[in-house]
Amino acid sequence: MLSIVNEDKRTIAVRYRICAARGLDLRSGEKHRICVTLKPMGLEQAREWLQEAKAVAVLTGAGISAESGIPTFRGSDGLWKDYKPEDLATPEAFARNPRLVWEWYDWRRQTIKQGKPNAGHAALVRLEIQKPNFTLITQNVDGLHDLAGSGRILKLHGDIWRMRCLSCGSDWPDRRAPLPKLPPHCGCGGLARPGVVWFGEPLPGGMMQEAEHAVLESQVLLVVGTSAQVYPAAGLIPLAKQAGARVIQVNLETTPFSNLVDCALEGRAGEILPQLI
Ligand code: APR
Repeated sequence: MLSIVNEDKRTIAVRYRICAARGLDLRSGEKHRICVTLKPMGLEQAREWLQEAKAVAVLTGAGISAESGIPTFRGSDGLWKDYKPEDLATPEAFARNPRLVWEWYDWRRQTIKQGKPNAGHAALVRLEIQKPNFTLITQNVDGLHDLAGSGRILKLHGDIWRMRCLSCGSDWPDRRAPLPKLPPHCGCGGLARPGVVWFGEPLPGGMMQEAEHAVLESQVLLVVGTSAQVYPAAGLIPLAKQAGARVIQVNLETTPFSNLVDCALEGRAGEILPQLI
């Protein structure tokens, strides 16, 4: 089920377990970091791990689309600064006021439609071509990975360009932005909802198991542009560590897992990923 967890408690618990497994003592602060920021060594080391890996999994978040002009959720211009998730991104909010929710999703669709995939998205398409075993796990609903040409994509939080009928359950693609009439309805007359996963809702059937399987199979997990605060997606990071994979994080800022990952490259995904791949 999609939820925001108090990362400190959970992360520290996981970090302690990992460090204990490594025979490390977390209390001794920073000295355990392997490579941080954009030191050439970090980038080179990360590039080498990626080149050597046969199986690679990638986890992306809103940060990879930021350079395409699409607002993130929790950044300084993040959506959740101006809007409350409980008012717009829960089944209860939709039941209360479907028109309000659709006004917001129609605005987001129009914003996303202006965006084009950036160099970060393109680099991941190249990585997919290079790797015999590759899985792109995204929390993004914007469809920019598809537009960039990525193939093997697991959309954990659904797709803003799909709709689902609350009456007959049918599900269909719809790329109209703006929508001619709000709220939109299904051919059966039923009320349509956005094809995304709202807080408190389960992820699409089997998707999380597929994602966990891909992570457990991988020698490298590349984590790009996510604040790693939303579960179960964020849980893939400690899972990869526990499975012995190298975890490379690309983010403008630190995240709750910056101390856990093997390499934390701080900067823009659109600048770092082309250097990494
Ligand atoms: N390059 C790399 N990282 C970036 C960039 C960039 N150009 N711009 C922003 N970031 C980073 C931010 O520092 C932040 O850590 O991207 C992250 C975006 O975090 P969030 O806004 O929290 O987005 P995300 O992690 O994808 O949110 C997860 O929460 O609201 C729900 O369902 C929604 O899928 C979403 C989920």
